[in-house]
Amino acid sequence: MSTPIPVFDTDPFSHDSIRDARAVDDRLREFSPVVRLKDDEDIVMLARFEHVSAGLKDWKTFSSTSRPWHDPNSVRPELLLTDDPPKHTRVRAVVASALSTGALSKMAEDFRQDADALVGRLKDKGDCEIDAVQELTQAFVYKVLPDLLGLPEKGREHLSAFGNMVWATMGPMNAVFQDTMAATGQPVIDWATDACKRENLLPGSLGMAMYEAADRGEITQDEAYLLVGILLSAAADTTVLTMANAIRAFSEFPDQYELVRENPQLVKAAFEESLRWDSPSRMAGRIAMRDVEIDGHVIPAGTRCGLMFAAANRDPRKWTDPDRYDVRRQNLGQLGFGFGVHACVGRVLALLEAEALLGALVRNVRRFEPTGPVEPWMTTIGHGPVRLPVRLHFA
Ligand code: HEM
Repeated sequence: MSTPIPVFDTDPFSHDSIRDARAVDDRLREFSPVVRLKDDEDIVMLARFEHVSAGLKDWKTFSSTSRPWHDPNSVRPELLLTDDPPKHTRVRAVVASALSTGALSKMAEDFRQDADALVGRLKDKGDCEIDAVQELTQAFVYKVLPDLLGLPEKGREHLSAFGNMVWATMGPMNAVFQDTMAATGQPVIDWATDACKRENLLPGSLGMAMYEAADRGEITQDEAYLLVGILLSAAADTTVLTMANAIRAFSEFPDQYELVRENPQLVKAAFEESLRWDSPSRMAGRIAMRDVEIDGHVIPAGTRCGLMFAAANRDPRKWTDPDRYDVRRQNLGQLGFGFGVHACVGRVLALLEAEALLGALVRNVRRFEPTGPVEPWMTTIGHGPVRLPVRLHFA
């Protein structure tokens, strides 16, 4: 006999919950293996590692073709992340080839130069207090990513507002959503709409590679346009936030930072561990295609489900001492990049960026000293700081 699915007493996506997202997500995970939301009783959340990873793997049961709060008229493109195989496979092949290690290896040196120049400019000032989001992770990603995509220089100042809007479209249409949409403004939407058009992209760029795939008949021209927008939205703030979370971890766990400084080959592991420790994407959305039973609770076919990466990545059933940031942890299987057919296709790019920026920091910064409260970014699905005040003590 099926046990009723308990209703969680807190809205995980309110302003207050976003300010305390780690604690709220952890509490939801411990509340029950399957959880209904108080204000959206037709939506369920899974937050335990075992169930989230199994759900991400089983795309036939947990389909991407719909999700919690699905609005087919939203500005969010209905492509790739919103498809199942075989359509998904065809479109993903184009993106995966353009983002492969081979295709991107030539970018490593450019990224290194950009990162060294950015950190070098700060070092010239001597030890200084900065906002590590604005002055490091945004400054870096908001330069190298649009350069790689071949976007015009004009309008790049809209990237942060655009990112905010993208996260908002993935969550509930609540007060946070309304605030974001009211603040976004038409110029941001106009910029994103125009910047991804073929005539505005540089030849030889990642963006242009999508249109060239369309010329070869691998995807349609309309799909190429949507893919440039998807790459822009999926690649920017996920990377900004993960690197900000890594810097935060370096400041809160100085022994771990010391280890990375002594062994710079640990930079990649430090980045992956920050993805586990504080994942920048709180959840993915899916729809159950059949009745699914989990620990005696039946999720009826047609139920929209949230699979909570961040909570699963701190599930004590899976991870020892999960709140500890440990750069030598065996974190294989962490879900910060997702898992299964939709696992992040931009992983190689994100790691190259992290190696460049975190590598430059490790070579030059002796210590990160926290100097004020960390301000969370007010987004429902994205998670991480919008302001991270630290003092840089240079080597
Ligand atoms: C640290 C940075 C990043 C994080 C944490 C991240 C996280 C994720 C996650 C969790 C998913 C799976 C979502 C789901 O299953 O519903 C995903 C998918 C995706 N990511 Fe990333 N991502 C990052 C960087 C990037 C970059 C740099 C790009 C592009 C250049 C990118 C492009 C994509 C795309 C296109 C998908 C959809 C793949 C598919 O549906 O097959 N991501 N990412």
